[in-house]
Amino acid sequence: MISAAASLTEDQWIEVLYNRFRIEVSQDRRPALHRAIGAYAQSIGEDNESLLAKALSRQLSAENWSKIIHLATNHETRFFRNRAIIDQLCNYAETFARPRVLSVGCSTGEEPYSIAIALAERGLANFKVHGIDVSEDCIAAASEGIYKASEAIPSRYVKEVTNGHLRFYDWLKDFVTFSQHNVMSDRPIGFTNPSVIVTQNMLIYYRKEARHRILEGLALGLPIGGYLITGPSEDAGWKSTDLQRLPVPTASVFKRTQ
Ligand SMILES: C[S@@+](CC[C@H](N)C(=O)[O-])C[C@H]1O[C@@H](n2cnc3c(N)ncnc32)[C@H](O)[C@@H]1O
Repeated sequence: MISAAASLTEDQWIEVLYNRFRIEVSQDRRPALHRAIGAYAQSIGEDNESLLAKALSRQLSAENWSKIIHLATNHETRFFRNRAIIDQLCNYAETFARPRVLSVGCSTGEEPYSIAIALAERGLANFKVHGIDVSEDCIAAASEGIYKASEAIPSRYVKEVTNGHLRFYDWLKDFVTFSQHNVMSDRPIGFTNPSVIVTQNMLIYYRKEARHRILEGLALGLPIGGYLITGPSEDAGWKSTDLQRLPVPTASVFKRTQ
């Protein structure tokens, strides 16, 4: 049974994360987040309450916040997690002379690398894939490009580095870049003119209003003719006057028409 004091601290963390970063944490993940923040607090010589007090009085460093945001978000991912969406994305990307693909909520990079492999498999050599994520830890891991061996990664793209770990060859890594970015902030994304934006398994952690706000923000950066793709129904019924919803059964797809 959780004490009243612990429950109050938990609520306050949720509030401060929302107020400062607009990060939403679903009800079922809150106790685990509270415990994880407690463990992190201990590792830096604090306790949950003293860390929260610093957060509330704006005394936490950017590094502290970065760790807490990482703990507050779910980073589950894998290579070629949704093959149908990647194939669809490649169909659209192929129609551009120099495709620029933006992967939003890219976690540790498996999605952007899967897209790069899929585009390379189609013989494309003139593309860019950029991954963004709110978690600095994820972006650091993605930029390193070292992964546990997986049958999903064709061997011609990787070399073995240490026991059971693979690293993408530099020629493939050169197609893929990453940067830390919170899509709930008003800061512009440092990757302009995307041909295709894809966001999968990220919107599901936000309420409907936040999902719509994120999609609105992403759509703003899309040039005419560009595509915005989310997992099926992740858009929560979002509509835009400037983007047309395309009839694709395996994903929610929008195309900027004006
Ligand atoms: C469950 S992972 C999905 C990864 C990948 N897209 C996939 O489908 O396998 C969701 C990712 O979204 C990121 N994320 C959550 N909120 C975000 C935000 N406001 N801005 C940018 N990234 C965010 C999380 O850090 C996490 O790495």
